[in-house]
Amino acid sequence: MSQDVRVPYHGWSERTRSWRGDVLDVVAEVSRSDSFILKDNVARLEERIAAEAGVRHAIACASGTGALQLGLLAHGIGPGDRVVTPAYSFIASASTIALAGAEPVFADVDEETATLAPESVAAALRGGGRPVRALLPAHLFCNLADMRALRALATEHGTLLIEDSAVALGATIDGRPAGSVGDLGVYSFFPGKPLGGIGDGGIVLTDDEEVAGRVRELRNHGQDRAVRFLYHRLGVNSRMDEVTAAFLLRRLDRFAGVLRRRRELAQRYQERLRPLAPALRTPPDGFGERSVYTYAVRAEDRDALRAHLLGRGVETMVHYPLPLPLQPAFRHLGHARGDFPVADRLARSVVALPLHEEMDLETVDRIAAEITRFYGGTA
Ligand SMILES: Cc1ncc(COP(=O)(O)O)c(C=O)c1O
Repeated sequence: MSQDVRVPYHGWSERTRSWRGDVLDVVAEVSRSDSFILKDNVARLEERIAAEAGVRHAIACASGTGALQLGLLAHGIGPGDRVVTPAYSFIASASTIALAGAEPVFADVDEETATLAPESVAAALRGGGRPVRALLPAHLFCNLADMRALRALATEHGTLLIEDSAVALGATIDGRPAGSVGDLGVYSFFPGKPLGGIGDGGIVLTDDEEVAGRVRELRNHGQDRAVRFLYHRLGVNSRMDEVTAAFLLRRLDRFAGVLRRRRELAQRYQERLRPLAPALRTPPDGFGERSVYTYAVRAEDRDALRAHLLGRGVETMVHYPLPLPLQPAFRHLGHARGDFPVADRLARSVVALPLHEEMDLETVDRIAAEITRFYGGTA
């Protein structure tokens, strides 16, 4: 691949080029209104997402992280509570628990899917100490957590199941939309997500009317929904603005095509890279029911591979270089390397390759050829 053919990891500039018309339209539309936050566009987005996810209530907020925080607060999770969460995920899967005043109890993840391993959760539940209030699995990359096994554990131990489906809008699990399988789910609309917006945004999903009402209050400082400046409980400012919602409504109209394209690109990587096993391990097959957020592989000599690709203009990304329990922010929990061996291995070997819907299949082929060359093969 010639060095002047650069492949940025996110491809923001191609993306913004294809989004520009819609961005200008929605800004113009909102500028002609006197509605900026939590108005008609937000209400319409909530209805559309609730219908997509097959849940009774969808409550829009400022980010996927905000959605997790609101979900935990609305369930009254706080000081004295313990919540089981993956040792390997985005920081929000654990930080929201800790910031709510509860204790994140880390469990290791599955080697294939990088999502919460049910046997490790079972061990954490048997582990003693105060009872666990909730399990908080996160779907990751393009993989889905084993929600059937986790639901069985949640039922057996009388805990809530909070589904961090920030990355999984568009996926289905046993025929049900991801995000609707737990007692509460969330989606993120961060620009890089499959249904990315033009800024931060998120949404909470629940069938529980009371929880939904509490989330609506909590996202707006805890303000009573009928009486202004009356607060029964303290909340946060995690509201969605009208420009964000109007843009997401337009993206939703095209979302089926986006999902299809991302699956097609992932499938192409899969076909080209599968022969490189075991030096390079591709994600589990079968993208038909999944939403491809990132295409992450596990690679021997990961850092040398990244340097090789960067030398040829291809940017990659490592999510995540450090398991959550080893983050300095969680030092006080006293975990050490080796406590979560799968998370340790993933942190050393995972690398995500460029994938966004504006990319073409030839670019995937060229990146795959470079990777094949790195491992001494001919492409
Ligand atoms: C698994 C997971 N949970 C939560 C979030 C948080 O979403 P946001 O970035 O919208 O706050 C992310 C975002 O990357 C994520 O990957």
